[in-house]
Amino acid sequence: MDAEISEFLAHGNVHSKTEWHGFIFYSLTLHGHEIVLVKCGVGKVFAALISQHLIDTYHPSTLIFTGVAGGLNPQYEIGDVVLSHDCIQHDVDGLGLGFPRGNLLYTDWTAFSADPNLLEKAKSAPVKGHKIWVGRILTGDQFMTHSEIASHSYLHDEFHGDAVEMEGAALAQVCAVNQIPFIIIRTISDKANGEAMHDFQKFLPVIAQNSFTVVNHLLSIL
Ligand code: ADE
Repeated sequence: MDAEISEFLAHGNVHSKTEWHGFIFYSLTLHGHEIVLVKCGVGKVFAALISQHLIDTYHPSTLIFTGVAGGLNPQYEIGDVVLSHDCIQHDVDGLGLGFPRGNLLYTDWTAFSADPNLLEKAKSAPVKGHKIWVGRILTGDQFMTHSEIASHSYLHDEFHGDAVEMEGAALAQVCAVNQIPFIIIRTISDKANGEAMHDFQKFLPVIAQNSFTVVNHLLSIL
């Protein structure tokens, strides 16, 4: 999100800026790490496109994705941060061909696990006034509101999802193909209910900082 990009630019030492098909890639140094920062936009295709471009062009050792998510777990409050224990593309549906929901057809891939070392380190970040959770993140090309959740009971019943968003598991799939460790760091912006649209717009600028706090901490101890 723009608010997150601004935090990084304010704290890091930017040494170059490159444009590719309208996407801006900033190269900067933060806590001694060479970082490439980019806003990928919304949805699985943008996330996959930008992930593969990052990998091919900059050869990163790790991909870190930050952004916001709707909380599915009733314990999660707006402003809390969830780290991806694993993530699943909830809208992949090969049921008609006999594949389990979420399974990438004709592969063994359903849930993608984040790197345990990144998770362990990110967990200790000092996010003031909010909790950091480790949970299952569900990804799909739908913004979930109350009405949608009612017709998507499998998010809870089958997947036992803790948060829902629109990019993470697509990046995870690209990382799995390329064998690169990843972590998804999401601040809860809404509870994927009837208030979701309102809360999402209201809290976005305030809470974007929480994701930055976690990434900043992670980089400082990696
Ligand atoms: N990102 C933030 N809130 C979301 C929601 N309710 N559904 C999907 N993606 C989201």
